[in-house]
Amino acid sequence: MTRFVLAIDQGTTSTRSIIFDGNMRVAGIGQLEFPQHYPRSGWVEHDPEDIWDTTVETMRLALAGAGLGARDIAAIGITNQRETVILWDRETGRPIHRAIVWQDRRTADLCERLRAAGHEGIFAERTGLLLDPYFSGTKIAWLLDNVYGARQRAEAGKVLAGTIDTFLIWRLTGGRVHATDATNASRTLLYDIRKNAWDGELARLLGIPLSLLPEVRDSADDYGVSDRSLFGAEIPIRGVAGDQQAATIGQACFQPGMMKCTYGTGSFAVLNTGSTLVPSNNRLLATIAYRLNGETTYALEGSIFVAGAAVQWLRDGLKIIREASESGRLAGQADNTQAIYLVPAFVGLGAPHWDAEARGAIFGLTRNTGPAELARAALESVAFQTHDLVDAMRKDWQGRDGGKAHETVLRVDGGMVASDWTMQCIADILAAPVDRPTILETTALGVAWLAGSAIGAWPGQEEFARQWSLERRFLPQMPEDIRAHKLAGWRDSVRRTLSR
Ligand code: G3P
Repeated sequence: MTRFVLAIDQGTTSTRSIIFDGNMRVAGIGQLEFPQHYPRSGWVEHDPEDIWDTTVETMRLALAGAGLGARDIAAIGITNQRETVILWDRETGRPIHRAIVWQDRRTADLCERLRAAGHEGIFAERTGLLLDPYFSGTKIAWLLDNVYGARQRAEAGKVLAGTIDTFLIWRLTGGRVHATDATNASRTLLYDIRKNAWDGELARLLGIPLSLLPEVRDSADDYGVSDRSLFGAEIPIRGVAGDQQAATIGQACFQPGMMKCTYGTGSFAVLNTGSTLVPSNNRLLATIAYRLNGETTYALEGSIFVAGAAVQWLRDGLKIIREASESGRLAGQADNTQAIYLVPAFVGLGAPHWDAEARGAIFGLTRNTGPAELARAALESVAFQTHDLVDAMRKDWQGRDGGKAHETVLRVDGGMVASDWTMQCIADILAAPVDRPTILETTALGVAWLAGSAIGAWPGQEEFARQWSLERRFLPQMPEDIRAHKLAGWRDSVRRTLSR
């Protein structure tokens, strides 16, 4: 039996397909970027056909790179940018509008209206989420209300909705399967994570017919087979998970109390809370980490919208670096006597503030402030935000973990972790160890493991966890008084940036 697994990682700015061999080593890889559309301030869209084309193309590139054909692939796993939604015609498969991306803020008003009507409590209790435009539900409602004829067609059962995984499953199976996994469902504002079921009452509050929504399956499950016409042979689709959940799995955070943080465009910290759904008292999200064999593992999540995007801003906006990799070196040259704070609320602030209207600010500028200080402020903002998430997690988790919340170790991955300077800064500001693993393709690996283990070609959970290995541990070195001083300055800057 072949043991190659193909992982599709459909992300916010690029689509990647990675083939892993039976020893979990990368055998072939395809990666393509696709255009971002910003039709208005705060709006972010993707063309679903770009998403589809880059998926098929990167799969072909990965197969060619590995010198393999479709018959050599035991299973496909799909992991995806979460919350981004597409509505499409059931008959033709054609999208009725561009995808509305997770970063899009156009439904801030609708969220505000639902909040003002006193509905946040019921959404939070059932879905673990808050009323923020980030999540899929209000985006689906917007499409139904703003695309000509959409609501009528939806009510007549002619339209289907889905997150990116669902759209790709539908297309890959030639329109035979309309399904999602529990992790993606848990990001919609429509899914009761306590009962593991779509919630009719929440759907009514958002004005969304339940008939639009896909069937929800386990993260390792049977999602049909890819249509023969695509790659010359059918390939079973056996693993599906949102990208942050897949990274949690790829980091082998299977035990309650284990935590990972992925640094991409945004940054997402996920703490495994086991079979216990821990509601947050500190404005984090309760969400599904994975569902295997019908058993749900929950997580607390802290989501920040700008991490690597702050470095992109240094490069593309300020043009003070040419490559993202220069940012750490530049930050290292900053004048230590200057206290410059960047609050990167470019698209509002996520956890724990959830302020859709806030916009970015820089504090403490002097005549001597230059590129190095700005670079340091950008990288430090990532560390401060991580601190705020982890701090909130410790508070929510305290008392449930045998008093070990203070023993936090953060497993990190994502593009930014290549910067030693940034990782040391995070360890210093967190006052906790930061562990960088040998394998950094954790998101793709996580979903490959879901698919590979589902078909019995890859090891079980315990052995997979044993194979996780450390490349470098960053230990905190900053004196406590300096850390406290820096954090106080950060808190003050955030307070002055909030819109309410
Ligand atoms: O919740 C959004 C997240 O899933 C996006 O991840 O890696 O595409 O930026 P990424």
